[in-house]
Amino acid sequence: MVQYVQETYLYDPNVLLKLDFHRSPAKFQPFISAANPGESWLKVRPLKDTDYDRGFLQLLSQLTEVGNVSRTQFLTRFSQMKASGDYFVTVIEDTRKGEIIGAASLIVERKFIHNCSVRGRLEDVVVNDTYRGKQLGKLIVVTVSLLAEELGCYKMSLDCKDKLIKFYETLGYVLIPGNSNSMTIRYDEDPAALKRNATSIIGASSGDACQTVSLEFAS
Ligand SMILES: CC(C)(COP(=O)(O)OP(=O)(O)OC[C@H]1O[C@@H](n2cnc3c(N)ncnc32)[C@H](O)[C@@H]1OP(=O)(O)O)[C@@H](O)C(=O)NCCC(=O)NCCS
Repeated sequence: MVQYVQETYLYDPNVLLKLDFHRSPAKFQPFISAANPGESWLKVRPLKDTDYDRGFLQLLSQLTEVGNVSRTQFLTRFSQMKASGDYFVTVIEDTRKGEIIGAASLIVERKFIHNCSVRGRLEDVVVNDTYRGKQLGKLIVVTVSLLAEELGCYKMSLDCKDKLIKFYETLGYVLIPGNSNSMTIRYDEDPAALKRNATSIIGASSGDACQTVSLEFAS
């Protein structure tokens, strides 16, 4: 394994140790939290600038297409996120292997409404397929959801496929009928593909559709 002299966290890791997992409706059996993830070799922490070498991007490729991201591109994006202060990319590391096995991102959006409040968006949730079914999906989602509350967000939203609505509901997220449609315009496809997409979305079965579910925090 590569040894690093100095590593930089995307955000202060201590904030994760303060999160009270009893506040979440999620049922953990056995009980685990970001501070105590159940195994000595599991660590829940902010993304580090050195995670390029711990398989972070390979993990994301289990979620969607990542592309050929160079180390320089990764470090540039990491610095931009850190400088903005609004990105809370959070990971689970298997410290035995020095490998990132779970990830979720909280993005804090600054608003003028609600007295210049902030809201959270949950993005890029993924657990390495060989580690699934062991509560790590719940652990990483609850971690960033409690973090959003800790940072003063008035709500947190995410887009997901129909089959994952139940998963998020067990973690406190609510689908509001008539008010939770997710709409998208893509700029990374040629116009002909855009037209084809419009047709296929209209004809898509509901299982392929994306829904927005939200978590409201009491004020
Ligand atoms: C979704 C995902 C993060 C869940 O991770 P995980 O570690 O397997 O989740 P957990 O072990 O914490 O499972 C929590 C619960 O959700 C259920 N669940 C997990 N994945 C599910 C899926 N794909 N569809 C339906 N239910 C699912 C589990 O059965 C479990 O239920 P239980 O508590 O009643 O036993 C993981 O399957 C994954 O990375 N999928 C690919 C990427 C993806 O789809 N990300 C979500 C984008 S919105």
